[in-house]
Amino acid sequence: MLKKMPIGDTIIELSEIDSTNNYAMRLISEGMAEHGMVIRADFQTDGKGQLGNTWHSEERKNLLLSVILDTTGFSLEKQFYLNAMACLSVADALMTNYTLRDISIKWPNDIYAGNKKLAGILIENNLRGNAWTNAIIGIGINVNQVNFPDLNRATSIRNETNQEIKMNGLIKHLFRSINKFYDIFNHKNESLFEFYNQMLYMRNKEILFQKRYEIFRGILKGVSTEGLIEIQVENKLKRFMHKEIELMLE
Ligand code: BTN
Repeated sequence: MLKKMPIGDTIIELSEIDSTNNYAMRLISEGMAEHGMVIRADFQTDGKGQLGNTWHSEERKNLLLSVILDTTGFSLEKQFYLNAMACLSVADALMTNYTLRDISIKWPNDIYAGNKKLAGILIENNLRGNAWTNAIIGIGINVNQVNFPDLNRATSIRNETNQEIKMNGLIKHLFRSINKFYDIFNHKNESLFEFYNQMLYMRNKEILFQKRYEIFRGILKGVSTEGLIEIQVENKLKRFMHKEIELMLE
């Protein structure tokens, strides 16, 4: 894959597709993908969310896209850095360009406005043996959708600002932020974690966590560079992986 193109210079626009992440995966396996290529769709018939969930989105109302990145040469240990860079890009694009209050990152990769989810990210990686060859960053931002049946914790830019949002403007803002944070990922990626932790939802707050059938109280201290959540329980610092534990929100 060529590494030179800025992210978002090539955009494949689709009116309907199963999932932009799946489309990107097919392009990669056919050898048709290039670094920085973006696939955007008006509607997904099988949009994918975290943990095998479905990502529902009304047609043309929201931003649904996938970014293809060449990751050859990066150590697989840096996987969570890419996650941090994706979260920060989306958060930055939203905070800088819209009057949205209280934007944060809910571990591991949801973007929140106040106590509601505004955007989600699904990263899929390709490996050859142990080598990380490329990544697909799937981004879903709720833009102009007003009603979220069955999801009482979802919101959109429209709902938060009371304004109809121009999709093309948002796309430009997003690519500017992605290129900015991709550069940081490339050069001085430790700082991504400072930024990520500064924006962490519920940081230093005492909340309830659920680990299987066990519920416990702890203070969310931060996220490690491996992507583990660090929780202070009584006087001990405990670390947990995604899938192992959930934040319980009232
Ligand atoms: C989450 O569960 O929060 C992650 C949601 C990611 C949704 C986006 S929409 C564009 C891309 N294509 C997909 O099928 N999923 C991601």
